[in-house]
Amino acid sequence: KPRAKSKFEIQTLTGWLLKQEQAGVIDAELTIVLSSISMACKQIASLVQRAGISNLTGIQGAVNVQGEDQKKLDVVSNEVFSNCLRSSGRTGIIASEEEDVPVAVEESYSGNYIVVFDPLDGSSNIDAAVSTGSIFGIYSPNDECIVDSDNEDELSAEEQRCVVNVCQPGDNLLAAGYCMYSSSVIFVITIGKGVYAFTLDPMYGEFVLTQEDIKIPKAGKIYSFNEGNYKMWDDKLKKYMDDLKDPGPSGKPYSARYIGSLVGDFHRTLLYGGIYGYPRDSKSKNGKLRLLYECAPMSFIVEQAGGKGSDGHNRILDIQPTEEEAAATAEERISGGGNLRNFCDLRSK
Ligand code: AHG
Ligand code: MN
Ligand code: MN
Ligand code: MN
Repeated sequence: KPRAKSKFEIQTLTGWLLKQEQAGVIDAELTIVLSSISMACKQIASLVQRAGISNLTGIQGAVNVQGEDQKKLDVVSNEVFSNCLRSSGRTGIIASEEEDVPVAVEESYSGNYIVVFDPLDGSSNIDAAVSTGSIFGIYSPNDECIVDSDNEDELSAEEQRCVVNVCQPGDNLLAAGYCMYSSSVIFVITIGKGVYAFTLDPMYGEFVLTQEDIKIPKAGKIYSFNEGNYKMWDDKLKKYMDDLKDPGPSGKPYSARYIGSLVGDFHRTLLYGGIYGYPRDSKSKNGKLRLLYECAPMSFIVEQAGGKGSDGHNRILDIQPTEEEAAATAEERISGGGNLRNFCDLRSK
């Protein structure tokens, strides 16, 4: 007979990961990688919280390969994330939004897992203490990916190997998640069996399970787009936006909510339903979000929660990243990582 649950019983992320390992859903190596990521997130949470006190607001003075001015916290968070992954001894290649190319973990004590991450998402919000986050995705090695080799002369053979391994469609993801630094620090994860959320308990310094098997509401009434780009959108999208604002017979149009932090906007969409998108416009031909570090992990999570991630035509998880994306030239990718089901429902009305 199973032991009755005590009211003092809490499920920590570490305990939950071990349970998944015992059940054979993930192996011991992946458990270690995931707990090293949770450690990085705790560290970043504390850095973000104290940013104004410890002189970590403002810009670093460098431009990353995405063409963005790096914030001090972009650089520090990247270092924290990368250090935690390296010292886990279980990662082979890491690829970050803030780095030019994916890099092999050179430590003699290393592993196989490939981790892609956005160490600090929404960093434009940081100086105003508005929500930010970190995003990650984990793959197994796979050197069968075909990439076009325009960069062959520029990259060393080792760099090429890393690029090839990172160029995997989101469908190959073994795990993905994000941590949101907001009024609570929330760690959301999927290992391909539903979506789970853990809240950082400041008393214990531990992530504690707060939501199990999250499903996105089937019909949401919130849309989340940067409408400042409206005039640069194509006519079809403008029309769609106008429809969202039409009160219709119910007399209630959709509500607009936009933070400008993918993690925050995505988390709200996951819990309240609706649609999030960063579509292409006449200026950014492929939208703004990055397939590897943002769209693919978020699409894996939203699908695990019963929603859809689409670029407007194709399922995001089916898209094969190109070498440009992995060896990040400033080229960017389209995204509509949101709940396309709601998108379609609305259209048919
Ligand atoms: P990052 O801070 O990691 O560079 O990502 C920024 C992204 C994403 O967080 C957000 O949804 C989007 O950029 C906001 O873009 P706009 O400021 O153009 O709305
Ligand atoms: Mn950035
Ligand atoms: Mn980002
Ligand atoms: Mn970022």
